[in-house]
Order: sequence, then C-alpha cells, then structure tokens
Amino acid sequence: MIKVTRIGHATFETPDLQRAIDYYTQVTGLVLAQREKNRAFLATKLGDLVVQLEQGSQSRCARISFQVAPETEFDSIRRGLERQGVHGQTRNDPCPGISRMMTFEDPKGTLLELFTTAEPVGKNLPAVGIGPLKLGHLAFCVDDPKSFADFYGRVLGFRVSDWIEDWFVFMRCGPDHHTVNFVRGKSTKIHHIAFELKDWAQVQVACDFLGQKNISIIWGPGRHGPGHNIFTYHRNPDDHIVELFTELDKMMDESLGYFDPRPWHRDRPQVPKVWDSKSPRDIWGLPPSRDYLRQRD
Ligand SMILES: [Fe+2]
Repeated sequence: MIKVTRIGHATFETPDLQRAIDYYTQVTGLVLAQREKNRAFLATKLGDLVVQLEQGSQSRCARISFQVAPETEFDSIRRGLERQGVHGQTRNDPCPGISRMMTFEDPKGTLLELFTTAEPVGKNLPAVGIGPLKLGHLAFCVDDPKSFADFYGRVLGFRVSDWIEDWFVFMRCGPDHHTVNFVRGKSTKIHHIAFELKDWAQVQVACDFLGQKNISIIWGPGRHGPGHNIFTYHRNPDDHIVELFTELDKMMDESLGYFDPRPWHRDRPQVPKVWDSKSPRDIWGLPPSRDYLRQRD
C-alpha cells in the first residue's frame, strides 16, 4: 500500500496571476522562487516549495503534491495504485526541486502528484509579511466526505483523526492531526488552505499585520476542538479562505493511538473520535462569521 508521509505543495489556477503573486509574497510572506510567463513558484522563507500559481480562467485548486518515503521505487508506486484500480502517469521535471512525479486524479478531479524526494528551492530567503513555517493542510467541500475518506485511506494510506458528526473528516498522513480535510458542501471546491506559524506570538503579529492591510479576519482567533489548533481565517484575493494556525495536535507514536497530551484537551487520552456539533466543539473563541460559513454554500 502507498503511504504518503507529508504534503508538498498546492497548485492554484487564478484569473489574475500577478494579483495572486502579490498576495502570497506581500501578505502570506512566501518568496517568489521562480517566475515564468504563466506560472509562479512560491516557497517558504525556509526554501520549501509550497504554492504553485498558474494563469487560468477561474480560481481553483488544481493539484496537490504529496511525498512518499524517499526509498520508494517508482514502479512500486505504480503497482500500488494499480492494485487499487488507479492508473498513474509519470511526469518528469514537473517543477523546481522535484525531478519526477506519479500523477492521478482523485474522485473530484484534483490531480494528485506523488514524489519521493524534493530539493529545497531556496534557503533562508528574506520574506515580507507573515512568513509561515510550512504548508499545513488543505480542506475541500465535497458531496460525500465518507467516500473521500475511504479513497484517501485506501489509495494513499491516510488515517482518520476525527469526524464532526458525519459531515467533516480530518485525516493525517504523518504526526500532524490533519493534512487533508473533507467537509460536506453544496458544490465541490476548496474550503481552505492552511499555513503553520511558529507559535501563538506569531499568530498575534499576523493578526496585527492583517489589520494593517485592512484584511478582515473572518473567524478567530480561537482554539479548535478537533486538532486543538489556535486558528485565524481570512480570504485572499481569489476568494479562497486562508487559515493561519499553530499548536496543532500531533500523534508522534501511531502505535499508541492517541495525540500527545496537552493541557487544553478535554479527553485524556485524546484519541480519534466523532465530535458532536450540537455542543460547543471549539475549546474557546466565538463562532464563525457568515463570510466564513458561505464557503460551503
Ligand atoms: Fe484548517
């Protein structure tokens, strides 16, 4: 079975490439590692490729890359996919830092790109704006979260960390509580992209920075129940929700089956579970705004 170990980068199509580059470089605090006529590659200040932008007719998340263990043979990835009835295609030199990928579509048509090794596209690059440590997770609105949980589990080795009733699933591929989420929505599209910040102090600086830029915070700060991360959400110029978070739950030892204990956990030990949306599921913080909630419409 294929076992994804971490997320690589997300590729977004945008009708206004320069506007999107300006947002990711001047607000998110990514660095423009490479620019072509219709494409741009953005890295964290640590040099990891995390966002690829492409000129397109609409705003959408078109592709996501995931890393599998570096020693994995490409042929074994192909065979692993075929055993699950999925046909993969090899792409050579798809983007800076990655020389080979195996690609295939998930059930909603997002192209998934598997790679074994990636070189940083820069090192300790100067960044302006928020400056996240890494790309944390992507969440999508889908009609049937259960079928996506089954596909990502069966084909890519993801595990379920939590459900909120039967309409929101959080899935992990490494220690982080979630790397992909699926929430029931009226249309199939991205729900949010999330970047990890170093600590609570950086979240506060980020909120002040967004305030200075007159960018509304549409939910948060608060501390979630599922994942227990400190969160804030805002919208980017492509109308995608961007989450900035820190202190996400980690399961450092899969064999123990519980998340590393934290003082804010209500359950001891904190194991994967189904949360009830009728009782307050966030540990603290006000409910989301209408601007956040409209993403599932
Ligand atoms: Fe999130």
